[in-house]
Amino acid sequence: MKADLLYEGKAKRVHEAKDQPGKLVLSYKNDATAFNGKKKATFSGKGRLNNEISSRIFRLLHDYGTETHFIKQLNETEQLVQQTEIIPLEVVVRNQASGSITGRLGLDENTQFNPPIIELFYKNDELGDPLINDDHALVLSDVTGNELKEIKEKALEINHQLQKVFQTINITLVDFKIEFGRLASGCIVLADEISPDTCRLWDITTQEKLDKDVFRQGTGDLLAVYREILKRLEEIS
Ligand code: TMP
Ligand code: ASP
Repeated sequence: MKADLLYEGKAKRVHEAKDQPGKLVLSYKNDATAFNGKKKATFSGKGRLNNEISSRIFRLLHDYGTETHFIKQLNETEQLVQQTEIIPLEVVVRNQASGSITGRLGLDENTQFNPPIIELFYKNDELGDPLINDDHALVLSDVTGNELKEIKEKALEINHQLQKVFQTINITLVDFKIEFGRLASGCIVLADEISPDTCRLWDITTQEKLDKDVFRQGTGDLLAVYREILKRLEEIS
């Protein structure tokens, strides 16, 4: 099913799909990293959990009308996607304050953002993914001003769709990071993954953290909380 390795990231490998030009195989790894790779560990089964979770979320977003790179889940750890050129922007949407924004802006955790806040980070490990503004994004990526506007509108729509999904399974979507890619046609679609690696997900009733913060902060069992997210998604997808 897969041919040459094109790229290896911290959480996934990207292969060309064998005999299917224009398609890629994403292969989810068991590795977890935090703080720009400074903290690392391997969790047997994490790749399967994130593949299952992200595949389900991308299918739900498709049902809501969001265009994505996702084609289908191939097996436990792999999915088939349309080839895109990834736009080097990490688009973060925040519904309430947690993580980097609390220290950067001196905000209390839980401060609500209505409307949500969008932040752009330049996807560049050597620079530590710095926070950038729109003018920087136009210099650092090949998007036009209108496309950047479109990306932000899509990010807010995806936020609404994800909030609905997670609310159904008793989870608050605190924030998340998404990436967009450009198809050969020039269209920009949602790419990469959406998983507990890339979202903050808190149980509505108990406020328990069900995402990678348990690994970042060393406060819980990563596999157990990822399993819990998958179990709840399986009830609705
Ligand atoms: P932050 O509060 O650390 O800036 O993270 C905001 C959101 O983005 C959070 O849900 C975690 C996610 N995220 C990633 O997916 N990748 C990253 O490299 C970082 C820093 C955050
Ligand atoms: N900073 C990312 C995170 O905490 C992971 C990493 O950069 O190693 O999600």
